[in-house]
Amino acid sequence: MNTFCPKDMTTIHLTINNTPTTLTVPPMKRLLDVLREDLHLTGTKEGCGEGECGACAILFNGELANSCLIPALQANNATLTTIEGLALPGEAPLSSILYPQSPALHPIQQCFLEQGGAQCGICTPGMILATHHLLTQHPHPTDLQIHEGLAGNLCRCTGYMRIFESVKQAAAHQPPPTTLSS
Ligand code: FES
Ligand code: FES
Repeated sequence: MNTFCPKDMTTIHLTINNTPTTLTVPPMKRLLDVLREDLHLTGTKEGCGEGECGACAILFNGELANSCLIPALQANNATLTTIEGLALPGEAPLSSILYPQSPALHPIQQCFLEQGGAQCGICTPGMILATHHLLTQHPHPTDLQIHEGLAGNLCRCTGYMRIFESVKQAAAHQPPPTTLSS
């Protein structure tokens, strides 16, 4: 772990998982490391550390972003959601009937669990946040939209088919699309 001189520190204000937070950190410290080391939010994983795998993906002002590429200073005044914040109260549920014994899981997590969309789990938080982002944009995605929505997230274990089935199951629990009547 690097050590930093106090004069090289900066104070940032951000909202993380609906909680306003103030931190004093090195300005160029990776947001991934701030999350894991300073905030102990270890659900966000490190894979490549180079912006290629999506294991460190979070929602940054509502957009999917790789936290290994973001310096802490850039998160000043930002709103972040990590995997730990996905199932917070107020999150619109896709389904309330799957896995009632695991009420803390977000429905997308439940779908990954039911469909076997996770093996080692390194890619899973990023995959689930990418799925959440995808379903926000496309509540009923086509196969192509699912492939494109998860294109920035690599998995070395599952072969992707179980992940795609997990996304489809999550999409199936979305409210039906509204149709315009003539
Ligand atoms: Fe950030 Fe791979 S660890 S993209
Ligand atoms: Fe292991 Fe995806 S479950 S990398």
